[in-house]
Amino acid sequence: MKNVILIAAPAAGKGTEATKLKEQYNIPHISTGDLLRAAVAKGDERGNMINELITSGKFVSDDVVLELLKEKILEPACANGYILDGFPRNLSQAEAYDKILEEINRDIGVVIVLDIDKEIAKSRISGRYSCSKCGKVYNINTDLKPKNEGLCDDCNINLTRRADDNPDTYEERYNTYLEKTEPLISYYNEKGIVYHVNAGLSSDETHKQVVEILGE
Ligand code: AP5
Ligand code: MG
Repeated sequence: MKNVILIAAPAAGKGTEATKLKEQYNIPHISTGDLLRAAVAKGDERGNMINELITSGKFVSDDVVLELLKEKILEPACANGYILDGFPRNLSQAEAYDKILEEINRDIGVVIVLDIDKEIAKSRISGRYSCSKCGKVYNINTDLKPKNEGLCDDCNINLTRRADDNPDTYEERYNTYLEKTEPLISYYNEKGIVYHVNAGLSSDETHKQVVEILGE
């Protein structure tokens, strides 16, 4: 299986699609957002520093993110491919990632862009709940509800809201996406590895388009 990089605006559905890909192709889902939130949960000095940045919608420094990322992709479970969700997020991370791949002699794979209208993505944050243990994401306003209200289907623990899921922080996250992350689409276009899907549809229809690109 090829490595997959998902690029999309905040709340476009990267985590939701990555979970489906993980189940279908049996490869790990690496979300830098989840890795950073796990670092925050440790409550140490580094965690508090990361928390401040995430809560205000700003990026965490490349050094911190690259360290977490590199550790993860070197795990044996990633040898047959993995899904990157939320990384790379700016040009310097994309260039650093190219270097890492060269060092470990791995192919970059494909980039899938989840295209979505800003207002549709923004509307999705109001119903989002997630599991702090496994990272699974739900939405109480759609058919992506948990089976039992307030509980993770897999871990059976209480679901939580994210501190950055409010309209003001969303604006900051979205503007940062346009400024720093969206230009990566041109960077990867030059490598000829970019595919677009319409992520404004249901999660099943979005997934169907991705599978058409990756193959069964
Ligand atoms: P991160 O956790 O990556 O947040 P994000 O990019 O803002 O994206 P989200 O997780 O909010 O949305 P998503 O696209 O995963 O959507 P989801 O599937 O949940 O990063 C958080 C922060 O960490 C960043 O702001 C930054 O500070 C820091 N960070 C992370 N990576 C970094 C990096 N590389 N460098 C520096 N800093 C970094 O879906 C959203 C909702 O919609 C859910 O409720 C879901 O159930 C629902 N939904 C999904 N798909 C559909 C659908 N098709 N129809 C209807 N509802 C849907
Ligand atoms: Mg996510």
